[in-house]
Amino acid sequence: MSQLKTVSHIDDIPSTPGKFKSDKSSYIHRLRIYSTLSKLTLWSSFFLIFVLFFVFLSRTTSPAAAPNRRALGDSWGGSDWEKRVSKSARRSTASGFTVLVTGAAGFVGTHVSLALKRRGDGVLGLDNFNRYYDPNLKRARQKLLDRAGVFIVEGDINDSVLLHKLFDVVMFTHVMHLAAQAGVRYAMQNPNSYVHSNIAGFVNLLEVCKSANPQPAIVWASSSSVYGLNSKVPFSEKDRTDQPASLYAATKKAGEEIAHTYNHIYGLSITGLRFFTVYGPWGRPDMAYFFFTKDILKGKQITIFEAPGHGTVARDFTYIDDIVKGCLGALDTAKKSTGSGGKKKGAAQFRIFNLGNTSPVPVSELVRILEKLLKVKAKKKLLPMPRNGDVKFTHANISLAHSELGYRPTTNLETGLRKFVQWYLEYSSGSKKKSSW
Ligand SMILES: *[C@@H]1O[C@H](CO)[C@@H](O)[C@H](O)[C@H]1NC(C)=O
Ligand SMILES: *[C@@H]1O[C@H](CO)[C@@H](O)[C@H](O)[C@H]1NC(C)=O
Repeated sequence: MSQLKTVSHIDDIPSTPGKFKSDKSSYIHRLRIYSTLSKLTLWSSFFLIFVLFFVFLSRTTSPAAAPNRRALGDSWGGSDWEKRVSKSARRSTASGFTVLVTGAAGFVGTHVSLALKRRGDGVLGLDNFNRYYDPNLKRARQKLLDRAGVFIVEGDINDSVLLHKLFDVVMFTHVMHLAAQAGVRYAMQNPNSYVHSNIAGFVNLLEVCKSANPQPAIVWASSSSVYGLNSKVPFSEKDRTDQPASLYAATKKAGEEIAHTYNHIYGLSITGLRFFTVYGPWGRPDMAYFFFTKDILKGKQITIFEAPGHGTVARDFTYIDDIVKGCLGALDTAKKSTGSGGKKKGAAQFRIFNLGNTSPVPVSELVRILEKLLKVKAKKKLLPMPRNGDVKFTHANISLAHSELGYRPTTNLETGLRKFVQWYLEYSSGSKKKSSW
């Protein structure tokens, strides 16, 4: 890896260059590593306690006791709303699934919903349309789904009254859980948002699934970030994941443990998918490939981070269509949950898969491809990577997903970026007319 002389930047919001001074003294440097490590241990313990607390809480509060906060006039409810919900969830083939897709207005959620609907499954979306990134993009994706016959319920996964209502109206066979607070660096600004969505919201969703009758099978998005400081490459599912490098990663790792608990206690069939840097049309504006494109076109300088010791920062960029195939493969091979009405009847399926591309690309190469596709030379600034959550390198071993899900990614970075750039140019010229894009 060290022979790749490169630089990088990762999948998050632009940082503030200048805030991070590079340290010449290796002693201070080492001290910092130690203090970072002990902070990590502290955070990990904190999270374990938090998880246990929520599991405890969820066992002591019955759904019936939840206050009925929703009254007439809220953003959901009523017979018209129920009709839209039922219609969207109706499958068009006899063998089709009935799938609840959380985070349906998100990047992966939109593509998965469209693919499921296209093949005849019933799909109901759920999304809270939060403002983590431009909600106009989420609304544009919603329009796309609407045209395809997918309705998105506006609500939060931590709202148990709403979730129970959805399960009353529709008998879901599957839940594709993609709602999450994403982003690595944003966790330093808004840590609670990660706890709200990735922990409390996930537990709430599992609570509702476990008491549904029949219980749905669940496929959900974990993250390659759970590998954290693991340096053994390629990353295999059995590698250690107890050294998260960000709060985001810690909450995803907590999610994997929570999922195991619900599988063990209630017989829920659960499959976790560790996504590796997903990119493509309708992607997330907080990711490097997206804002590099935007900034290069504007002639704005882009900041490329260099790993310590001039090491390479590289990512196993995975094209959205490949990820969608992996998600559908996971749904298609998911066994039924075994419990009913909150009682376990037997052992249920529990799986975890990497969904990557197995071909890490240095971020400098990403920039080179973008320059070529955009026909604009980027104004680059190299900075040492700040220690705020990004890892140096990701590389997926996908042999398990290949053998169990038939997963075989086919899109290389240049082909995928070409499709992204084509979409970006169309989308940004369309929305420039309307708004502040
Ligand atoms: C999630 O919802 C519950 C009520 O259902 C509430 O008590 C709790 O504060 C919420 N958690 C977060 C982190 O928003
Ligand atoms: C990839 O993972 C499989 C298990 O799924 C393992 O048998 C194999 O040795 C791994 N390959 C590498 C190169 O680590």
